[in-house]
Amino acid sequence: MRRLIPLLILALFGAACTSTGGADSEFTTEETTTTTSRAQRTTGTRAPETTTTAPATETPPETVDGNDEDPPVDLSGLDVGDPGGDMSGLTAERALNSIGDPTFPGIGNAGYDVQSYDITLDLTGEELVAEAVIELVAQVDLPGFNLDLEGMNVDEVRVDDEPVLFRRDGRELIVRLADPLPTGASASVFVAYNGTPQPIVANDLPFNLGFQTRSWGTFVASEPIGAATWFPANDHPQDKALFTITMTVPSGETGVGPGQLIESTTNADGSETFVWRAREPMSTYLASVATGDFEVSTETLDNGLVIRHAVHASSVGITGTTLDSTVEMIAEFEAQFGPYPFESYGVLVVPESLGFALENQTLSLFGEDIIASSAAQPILAHELAHHWFGDNISPAAWDDIWLNEGFATWAEWWWTERIGGGDRVDQAATIPMAPLSGIDASSLFDLNVYWRGGLTVEALRREVGDEMFGTILREWTDRYGGGVASTENFIDLVTELAGPAPADTVSQWVFSPAMPQLPPDR
Ligand code: TRP
Ligand code: ZN
Repeated sequence: MRRLIPLLILALFGAACTSTGGADSEFTTEETTTTTSRAQRTTGTRAPETTTTAPATETPPETVDGNDEDPPVDLSGLDVGDPGGDMSGLTAERALNSIGDPTFPGIGNAGYDVQSYDITLDLTGEELVAEAVIELVAQVDLPGFNLDLEGMNVDEVRVDDEPVLFRRDGRELIVRLADPLPTGASASVFVAYNGTPQPIVANDLPFNLGFQTRSWGTFVASEPIGAATWFPANDHPQDKALFTITMTVPSGETGVGPGQLIESTTNADGSETFVWRAREPMSTYLASVATGDFEVSTETLDNGLVIRHAVHASSVGITGTTLDSTVEMIAEFEAQFGPYPFESYGVLVVPESLGFALENQTLSLFGEDIIASSAAQPILAHELAHHWFGDNISPAAWDDIWLNEGFATWAEWWWTERIGGGDRVDQAATIPMAPLSGIDASSLFDLNVYWRGGLTVEALRREVGDEMFGTILREWTDRYGGGVASTENFIDLVTELAGPAPADTVSQWVFSPAMPQLPPDR
């Protein structure tokens, strides 16, 4: 029986709103005011039991609380009426110059294309001390540009080694260039910043987003808009880039990142530096690191794929042999979906209960809770499947989220059925669920996105048969892998390869207010 946890909503008042004081109106080459967050955390509260907004991945009924060890909150002076926890309100007024995502109007920035992020994090002190080098190409003549950066103090911004004027406005880091950057020209943007990253706590999401600090170390859970809590970013899935991430950690700790470890050094003071590089483009929300006492195991398969897991030392016992299925799962999915799209894969296990797992690129994030539960294998399959659907092909806009969660849920069902897990598809088909279009910030990860999304994929398979279904999935990957795609792109592809009737079936499943009937399997 599938057990669902009721959606746990972390209530908050205003954590997402930051104030930069007088820096708003004046450009500086040095930020003089301190960015403060008005509230740093609140306690988790349960959503009404009647909600259908549950995560689709099967999870044990545990309390979701990503805040276990956050600093205590000073509630004095809190504006209780402040809607800062609603992410849709967070950035609505900042739509100018943004990518214009309907779900998050202020997220991401138009006018340039980031080629690479080179992020250096020093985690040896009380606060994070960081530098980012961002290579970008202007898509229009740029008198300046914005980056997304949530909190943190910015010390300096340089463009092609010249200090430039900048100011902060909420989540925006606004850079003014001395000389406009002409269309097609590239620039190297250097940002020196520091502070303690504050995860974004949102009413509408079951988890606080971004860079998380614990007594045992750090990790990252950003989807959808948390990347800007730890680096200045064009924080929208459309702008994929290469990443190099350097972490300096205290003696005895390990830094883990996406892609592969390319260098590790012990410094004179005993601290250690780890450099990880991802050689395939990545959306910002999928970029992650972790630091702490992690045991990293690395194995190279015959086909060159590197399997790298990072398990916190205190989670090694609980993890046991649970991750041993990874290689077989990859082989099964490759046969269905085409080649695994990245240079490496692995799972990060952190020593706490997250309530969720997350498909961080090449380094899926798991808490001990799911690893220890009977749902471990289905959810391992789900996060791995996201590497084809979500990571390699990312959503063109956030309301295309069913392309991530529906396909990953379908793959999770498929895997579970293979290992004898019963008929989850027909079970799901009995639940009436809302359509998959017009998804707003508060419903991105609702049950329908997962289950009606998964049923959409299954309905297509049943209609066109396994062979055409495989053809569609592999063409989907060939055409859109490494980039983004929309619901319309998918429907067009189905039309092109299988004709208008199956495309219409997909449309009904995505858009129709009533839930279509799932045809029998043949
Ligand atoms: N994409 C995740 C999943 O499928 C769910 C998720 C979204 C999530 N945002 C998150 C999990 C943030 C943890 C933290 O399964
Ligand atoms: Zn998912």
